[in-house]
Amino acid sequence: VSAIDSLLLASLRQGGASPLLVADENCLDLPFASVDSGVQVLSNRYDIAARARRAGLTTAFSDFDFSPWQAAPPSAVVYRISKEKPVVHHLANRLCEVLAPGARLVLVGGKQEGIKTFAKTLGQRFAAQASIAKHGDNYVVSLVKPAAPCGPPLDDRDYQQLREIARLGDMPVYSKPGVFGWNRVDAGSALLAGYLPSLLGALAPQAGSTLLDLGCGYGYLSLAAHSLGSFRVTATDNCAAALLACGANFKEHGVNGEVVAADCGDILPGPYQLILCNPPFHQGFHQDRGLTEKFLATTRRLLAPGGRALFVVNQFVPLETLARARFRVVDTPVANGSFKLVELA
Ligand SMILES: C[S@@+](CC[C@H](N)C(=O)[O-])C[C@H]1O[C@@H](n2cnc3c(N)ncnc32)[C@H](O)[C@@H]1O
Repeated sequence: VSAIDSLLLASLRQGGASPLLVADENCLDLPFASVDSGVQVLSNRYDIAARARRAGLTTAFSDFDFSPWQAAPPSAVVYRISKEKPVVHHLANRLCEVLAPGARLVLVGGKQEGIKTFAKTLGQRFAAQASIAKHGDNYVVSLVKPAAPCGPPLDDRDYQQLREIARLGDMPVYSKPGVFGWNRVDAGSALLAGYLPSLLGALAPQAGSTLLDLGCGYGYLSLAAHSLGSFRVTATDNCAAALLACGANFKEHGVNGEVVAADCGDILPGPYQLILCNPPFHQGFHQDRGLTEKFLATTRRLLAPGGRALFVVNQFVPLETLARARFRVVDTPVANGSFKLVELA
């Protein structure tokens, strides 16, 4: 158990009868089996919510929607801080409204993660002085909700609001904070989208061919493919905000398809004739090479015989080496010095 997960477990033990754990992607390795059965969990990640549920904990999976706690707010909330500032600010804004006077918000995080700054800014929102305890390189920050009204809302970039962040042809593309790289088109994904016309030209897929967008984010790769041909699209991600944005984009663009919450497509039966993927290599604050292997293994399981998969990765990721163990054809048709496209069959 990492030092920070130990602090989370200790904070939950001190959280009274049924504290609420707010768990983002940084809680993936938390040993939920060691968490007291009274703890409730709210996670924006499907895989983490699934692990908490399997450990028998009352769990909600959503884009940090606190409305289920509006009627009976928890007396303590424990939160391992997120990497993205709008997420931390959104949680502080909402929790200050939801918690009753006397309830505690406990933040756990590392020195390098900006936790001392959050102690100050969240203190302003809660109109309360934070107490800070240092444990090596990590800190536990505690705020008690006073009877006084909340301070001014922190800048959360309008967390809940979908908005246009790009255009594809003459159509808007929507996204929101909480989605990976939410306010731009990822350079790797743009490279992949640019190569799709030649791939589809060579493959000449039949109308209605099945396409999987694995780790879809707000759905950019699905939308790019949809603009070029007629596919039956399945888009999947583990992030609740991504699923919301992708669903809105599918509706706006009239994509024939479904948006599915899953842990790297684990609940999908497949097969798919075309799989598009810009795999993650970060899990919150940490790089995670294992994720690349996981996305390759899923692609091997879900790719139809004769089908094609197209990945985009950073130039330094040894995707071809990892893929050769699983695929007969491994080609790198495009490399631009920053990213490369890897085609698998
Ligand atoms: C590099 S982003 C690519 C997003 C999108 N395809 C695009 O092109 O903009 C990787 C995506 O993988 C998702 N992801 C990370 N871990 C995942 C998992 N275990 N299962 C499904 N999706 C995951 C992230 O939420 C993120 O949306």
